[in-house]
Parts: sequence; structure tokens; C-alpha cells
Amino acid sequence: MNIAVLGGAGYIASHTIVELDKAGHSVVAVDNLVNSCEESLRRVSKIIGKEVPFVRADVRDAVAMESLFKQNKFDACIHFAGLKAVGESVEKPLEYYENNMNATFVLLNAMRNNGVKNIIFSSSATVYGNPAEIPITENCPKGAITNPYGQTKSMLEQVLMDLQKSDPEWNVVLLRYFNPIGAHPSGLIGEDPNGIPNNLMPYISQTAVGIRKELGVFGNDYDTPDGTGVRDYIHVCDLAAGHVSALKAIERNCGLAIYNLGTGHGYSVLDVVNAFERVNGVKVPYSIKPRRAGDIATCYCNPEKAYKELGWKAQFGIEEMCRDAWNWQKNNPKGYRG
Ligand code: NAD
Ligand code: UD1
Repeated sequence: MNIAVLGGAGYIASHTIVELDKAGHSVVAVDNLVNSCEESLRRVSKIIGKEVPFVRADVRDAVAMESLFKQNKFDACIHFAGLKAVGESVEKPLEYYENNMNATFVLLNAMRNNGVKNIIFSSSATVYGNPAEIPITENCPKGAITNPYGQTKSMLEQVLMDLQKSDPEWNVVLLRYFNPIGAHPSGLIGEDPNGIPNNLMPYISQTAVGIRKELGVFGNDYDTPDGTGVRDYIHVCDLAAGHVSALKAIERNCGLAIYNLGTGHGYSVLDVVNAFERVNGVKVPYSIKPRRAGDIATCYCNPEKAYKELGWKAQFGIEEMCRDAWNWQKNNPKGYRG
């Protein structure tokens, strides 16, 4: 298939382009580079041995999107474009709602105008809020969401569901990602956060490389085996492969389909720290800090549905996630700008 990858220079998209190419699909990457740089796509080109067609554009730009769809015959879109920092979204709600909602409205309009009715959307486990069941299945009701970023994911899921209901020619796949970490095993592409990382793995690897003094572990009094928060970490290459599998659902005219993409295993913060130290032979100094507002104790999924319907399941474990995160970090201490 020929795929438009919106937000194509970002962390998950760059890994997904590698998997799409491996599976024989062609892509055009579209990004305004608000949270990424073109170097990631140059690195992808190195991995796949061919140029990645790139259009620098804002997905909110209706004229640019119309011309993108006129100039290319796409079979489907994978929509990664959005702002994603939870804390920042609390401080800048208007910017988050405006960017994430409008980009999607403009994209869907351009798709409809040009007869492209197949979309995979990057959603998040955040839509489950404090989940009503563990492990979380796709039938778990959505929960109370505590930040504007999460609201945009939940609202956009609803927009896409309503659109699909109004016109059954649409195939809409909502992928609810759990906690993507790690990097491509080549060490050429990986996660390159701006400023101080909010998420656990980039904080661990920047601490191990000496950019940060110590990791703060946000709470050790949760109702979990060691008291620290438990999450379903998934290797970004497994997550990327999940998008290729989701295209199979589209090929079968799935209508609306929702999948959890996780491993089904929960690891605590200290499990991840210990695995990182063991696998990589490095120290990660840490100290216990108060709980972070909005955090929950435990979040991991039941990934059976994606296996049954798409034949997809995660291949990599926590060791590979830690190994590849460190390989990327030590080869690129300053990320793509290094
Ligand atoms: P990322 O920031 O690396 O990638 C998003 C890309 O979208 C960036 O390259 C950014 O420049 C681009 N972008 C943002 N607004 C745009 C606009 N208006 N026009 C064009 N490009 C725009 O983030 P990521 O971690 O790769 O996440 C990809 C998607 O997956 C996001 O929608 C995110 O919310 C979602 N998601 C991520 C995680 C995670 O842990 N990383 C978890 C769940 C869901
Ligand atoms: C966070 C977001 C979530 C988003 C996801 C992926 C919040 C409340 N939730 O999920 O909406 O979909 O990222 O981008 O921000 N931790 C530490 N020290 C740190 C960083 C994290 O102890 O410096 C702990 C956290 O308390 C948590 C675990 O590590 O228990 C994972 O945190 P993180 O990587 O931020 O992911 P989530 O909170 O699961």
C-alpha cells in the first residue's frame, strides 16, 4: 500500500516507517517538525537503504493537505501527528486542543475529499484513566482523564468512531499504545525528548550517561509488589510492527477496530531500573520522591485481541528494551542534535 505517515519524523513514526518498508509498503512522511527533526528520516533512509519521501507541512494547513492528497494516490493514512507531553498540556490546554483536534479535522476532511477512507490513529492507554480492570481489555470502559492531552485522544477516538458510523466505507483502526520504550537495534534512531524527559526510560538512560544526576522514583507506597508504579512497557519496534499488522485489518474492511498494543506484562519502576543496570552493566542512581500528580498504581493490558485478529504479538522483552534504549543513548548522547 501507499501510506501517508502524518507526524512521520517523530519517535514512533520513524520506527514504523522502517517496518512498513520491510513489509513492502511505500510511504510519504509529513511533519511540521514541531517536536522532531529531519535527521530522523535521514537515519531511517540509512536503515532501509532508500530515500524517505518527506513533505514539511503542518497537518492543520488545509491547502497543504489538499495538495498532498492531489499529488499522491494514498491507500491509507497513519496519523501520529500531535503534541504529547502530559504536563505541558495542563499548562497549555488551548495549544493542545487546537493542534491535536484541528490537525485531525483537517486531515479527515482532506481524506474524505480525495476518497481515502482508511486510517490508523495513535491513541493511548491513557483513555482508560484509572482502569476498571487489570489486565485491561478493549472492552474496559474509558475512565476519567486528568489532562488535556489525554482528553484529545479520547475525543478524537469519538470523532473517528462517529465518522465511521456515518459512512461505513471508512476503516478506522484505533491503536491504544501502552508504554513504548527502546530504539531500533541499529542505534540510528530512537527517542529524542526536548529538555528534561518526563517519561521513565529516557530519564533512566540520560542518568546512566551522566546528563542527569539521579532518577527520581515517583512514589514507593503504591499497592504494587515493590510499591512503585507498574506499567506495560513495549519495545518501539514491536509497536511499529503493530501498525503493519493493523493494515491487514484495513485490507479486510474492518470498519471500526480497536486494539491494545502492549506486551501484557507489568514492570515496576524498580524492575526497569534493575533490568537496565543488569543488561547494560551501568549504574542508575535513584532516590524515592513523592508521587507524581495524576499517576496510577498499575496499568497493563491483555493483548490477546491483536493476536487473535491480527496475528500480532510483541517479540521483545524488557532486556531488549533496555539494551536498545542504552545503545541509542550512548551512541547519541545528545540525540539527533549530537
Ligand atoms: P513525537 O512527538 O515524537 O511524534 C509526533 C510528531 O508529530 C512529531 O514529529 C511532531 O513534530 C509532529 N506534529 C505534531 N503536530 C503536528 C502538526 N500539526 N502538523 C504536522 N506534524 C505535527 O511523539 P511519539 O512519541 O512518536 O508519538 C506519536 C503519536 O503517538 C502521538 O500522537 C502520541 O500522542 C501518540 N502516543 C505516544 C505515546 C508515547 O509514549 N510515546 C503513547 C501513546 C500515544
Ligand atoms: C505517561 C502519561 C500518559 C502517556 C504516556 C506515554 C502521565 C500521568 N501519563 O504515562 O498519558 O500516554 O506517558 O507518553 O504523565 N516515573 C518515575 N520517575 C520519572 C518518570 C516516571 O518514577 O522520572 C514513573 C512514573 O511514576 C510511572 C512510570 O515511571 O510509574 C512510567 O512513567 P512514564 O514513563 O511517564 O509513563 P506513564 O506515566 O505510564
